[in-house]
Amino acid sequence: MSWSIPLAQRVISLKPSPTLAVDAKAKALKAQGADIINLSAGEPDFDTPDHIKEAAIKAIKDGFTKYTPVAGIVELRQAIINKLKRDYNTKYALDEVVVSTGGKQGLYNCLQAIVDPGHEVIIPVPYWVSYPAMVELAGGQPVFLSSRPDENFDIDLDELASKITSKTRALILNSPSNPTGAVYSRQTLEAIAKLAVEKGFYIITDDIYDEIRFDGNGPENPVSVFPEARDHVIIANGVSKTYSMTGWRIGYLAGPQPVIKAATKIQSQSTSNPNSIAQKAAQEALAGPQDCVKEMVSAFKKRRDFIVKRLNEIKGIKCNTPQGAFYVFPDVSSYFGTSCEGFEIKGSLELADYLLEEAKVACVPGIAFGDDRFIRFSYATDESQIGEGLNRLEAALSKLS
Ligand SMILES: Cc1ncc(COP(=O)(O)O)c(C=O)c1O
Repeated sequence: MSWSIPLAQRVISLKPSPTLAVDAKAKALKAQGADIINLSAGEPDFDTPDHIKEAAIKAIKDGFTKYTPVAGIVELRQAIINKLKRDYNTKYALDEVVVSTGGKQGLYNCLQAIVDPGHEVIIPVPYWVSYPAMVELAGGQPVFLSSRPDENFDIDLDELASKITSKTRALILNSPSNPTGAVYSRQTLEAIAKLAVEKGFYIITDDIYDEIRFDGNGPENPVSVFPEARDHVIIANGVSKTYSMTGWRIGYLAGPQPVIKAATKIQSQSTSNPNSIAQKAAQEALAGPQDCVKEMVSAFKKRRDFIVKRLNEIKGIKCNTPQGAFYVFPDVSSYFGTSCEGFEIKGSLELADYLLEEAKVACVPGIAFGDDRFIRFSYATDESQIGEGLNRLEAALSKLS
């Protein structure tokens, strides 16, 4: 369709989320009857626990169906404050917390609140697909830190120091990480927190996978390991992944009051309060029984052990053992330069396409996360599907030469 009235510049270079696009393609093929194994999904396969659903049903029956305060109901913000005190031993006041429509909106509002045109935001590679786009939508410039797969994707502190300029406004950390599942060490978090205080930038910690960890330790954050950095840290989190509540759309930010006030102001002029019923459900999720989380994490751990072992048995694949989230990010670059029946594997994009066509297995190419050597598989699906998916993967890869 030709369209003569121009669109805004900011949207012209904006690409739709590649992970959501792969997932949509896999779901569409499945709906047409194709026998697809979808290892691309960014959401737990478990149902939302019943006690959380009951809280939402009660909210509807009680007529809790009107506008709420823009920043979210006090009871939910209090449940968030209690969680942050418990996990990070850090106290937040009510006006230091804002509830949003998903973790994504929290991050978006946060970047809109702190980034001006010309500012730089440092993003470690591989990154969650939306960070660079959100920084650019705020007029900022993403600055990438290279990836260190052999060091468990840890940050090179010398490289980080070398990328900090007078324009650096923030660094985004995501631990456990999407796509690698890597968790930053206490030493790394502490060193980064000290650097933020010394150089004067914000650390945005995307803690959305904080409870999905397999290392036996509790969640950690720069504020918990170096409390002096409190005014530099903006925590972004939500209930989507921990409580299998992706569709409910509840996330939050916690941080210094001026930042939270600014993010709330943006929300007041865009979406207003997040859904009132979902807020009641999120309150129950955070304040209610936590057995459901333990059960999900233990199922994810079992699948992680299986998928990592099986991937490393496949010729030409190298896969780290993630300590959290529900993704693996194996190095598949040994297949680049191979071909089979009209498919030429130049990089992760062609490999992911080949796997979808040949093996009917959906995964996300690493290029979407800024590193072309890898592909991302989600293990948020049952073990028999994972097993069958990897058998198909091995068969399809064996045809490439
Ligand atoms: C790293 C990361 N941050 C944030 C989000 C957004 O979560 P939500 O669904 O709550 O918006 C996701 C979802 O995929 C994610 O993977």
